[in-house]
Amino acid sequence: MTWTDWVRGAEVEPSLYGADFAHLGDQVDALLDADCRVFHFDVGDGHFIEPITMGPIVLQSITPQVHARGGAMDVHLMVESPAKYFEPVKKAGGDSVTFHFEAVDDVGATIAAARAQGLQAGVAFNPETSPDDVAAVASEADIVLCMSIHPGYSGQPFQEAAFGRVARLRELLPERVHIQVDGGVGDANIRELHANGATLLVAASSIFAAGDPPGAYRSLVQALG
Ligand code: DX5
Ligand code: ZN
Repeated sequence: MTWTDWVRGAEVEPSLYGADFAHLGDQVDALLDADCRVFHFDVGDGHFIEPITMGPIVLQSITPQVHARGGAMDVHLMVESPAKYFEPVKKAGGDSVTFHFEAVDDVGATIAAARAQGLQAGVAFNPETSPDDVAAVASEADIVLCMSIHPGYSGQPFQEAAFGRVARLRELLPERVHIQVDGGVGDANIRELHANGATLLVAASSIFAAGDPPGAYRSLVQALG
């Protein structure tokens, strides 16, 4: 399965980093009931980003229920040496891995290493990295992730510069490459991000900080227009 199979025009992706981990499986099920298809799973190693977040052991506890309902697991690796985690992520049921431009020497070889594991491949980049530099080496990727916050923590404010950076990426990348945005995405910006070319909209706080995550997910889907 590929991103082409998963994406229904555009997808709002709940970022499980914002979930209530005492009720993770139930929250995932409730979002699947709300017709959510792709979940975003943030791995942080305490080196590339400050916090240690979660890894394959947590991932494998939820991928069966996601796959049983036709869903997919999009794994965002905010780690150094990302390629060494491709095999464990695949074994834990991950479907796609996104590694950071800033964390590798050879983007093309790292995309190929993800594909060799049967994974879809994404390239992420931080707010201080030029979208032109990323687009120059990421045209073979399935998705390119424009961070609209500095990676590390959920709940940071959206950086408005992301609007222009998404539009620039859309000009530069082949049409088949999906553009994803992650960080501070919510009702106030989701429509403009989509209009500028983003088709994958990641959201933690604006879904899980709400009292009703499935309702918040649905309202973001509606806001896409
Ligand atoms: C943090 C992660 C994000 C995070 C987004 O760097 O990559 O996916 O969970 O959280 P919000 O939507 O709250 O900015
Ligand atoms: Zn993320």
